[in-house]
Amino acid sequence: MPNSRKPRHRVKIGVFDSGVGGLTVLRALLDRIPDADYLYFGDTARLPYGSKSAATVAHYAVGAVRYLQEQGAELLVIACNTATALALDEIKAAAGVEVIGVVEPGAEAAAAASRKRKVVVIGTDATIRSHAYRRALEARKVAVREKACPLFVPLVEEGWVEHPVTEQVAKIYLSEAFSPEVHSDDMPDADVLLLGCTHYPLIKPLLRRVAPEPVAIVDSAESTALDVARQLQIESLSSSTRSERRGVPQLKFFATDSAEKFRIMGTRFLGLPVEDVVHVDLKE
Ligand code: DGL
Repeated sequence: MPNSRKPRHRVKIGVFDSGVGGLTVLRALLDRIPDADYLYFGDTARLPYGSKSAATVAHYAVGAVRYLQEQGAELLVIACNTATALALDEIKAAAGVEVIGVVEPGAEAAAAASRKRKVVVIGTDATIRSHAYRRALEARKVAVREKACPLFVPLVEEGWVEHPVTEQVAKIYLSEAFSPEVHSDDMPDADVLLLGCTHYPLIKPLLRRVAPEPVAIVDSAESTALDVARQLQIESLSSSTRSERRGVPQLKFFATDSAEKFRIMGTRFLGLPVEDVVHVDLKE
């Protein structure tokens, strides 16, 4: 039934992130939903969001998603974990279209993967301080330990995805996150590591080596893409049918800092050529 995979019309999906990290989410969307067009907004001039206050992140995010809607976005994906964790309600209140964030799909995937119902979540300082993942996981009867890993974002942006410094930093963060000594809870046997930041999927192989052996690593990109497909009431392509894709998605990118820099970094994060980049100057 090939027609059942076709959306009724080519929907325009707006994807928002503080920078290039959200391209890991766009990649999952392209894999799952190729019969759509995409508008991607990276707020590169104002990144990082992970060290900013909820009020500032909400202000920036609302401006960006309004812009995406003006460009024709019919559904919004908040790929940025920090913006989702701190400002999803404000974004939803300001948007006139459906908004999907990454925290709920990520928590859902982690809960499904954890047989022991114990998850360690890592993210930016702001995401971890918001306890958004804790709330989403506890609502699913999963015990949580949260650990901020602020150095990962600059290391990944530097391109140090396989680098001894990043590996050393990961060893310190993850040993603290999984250590029985530094916590009073009973979490050392957590069996899932949830990557609560757009940048962390790029260091998944390194984290795999450093994390305790039986731990499954889950990121929200894939489950967010499935959620979007559900929302659009279309059947997403499974890995076995991805080769059957027929649509050629139109991709348009907006960046608040240099378009050229976005093109170069974006190509690395997306794993595909990033071509049509427009510089946008959002007024404060
Ligand atoms: N996109 C952010 C996130 O997923 C990471 C980068 C930033 O701090 O702006 O939390």
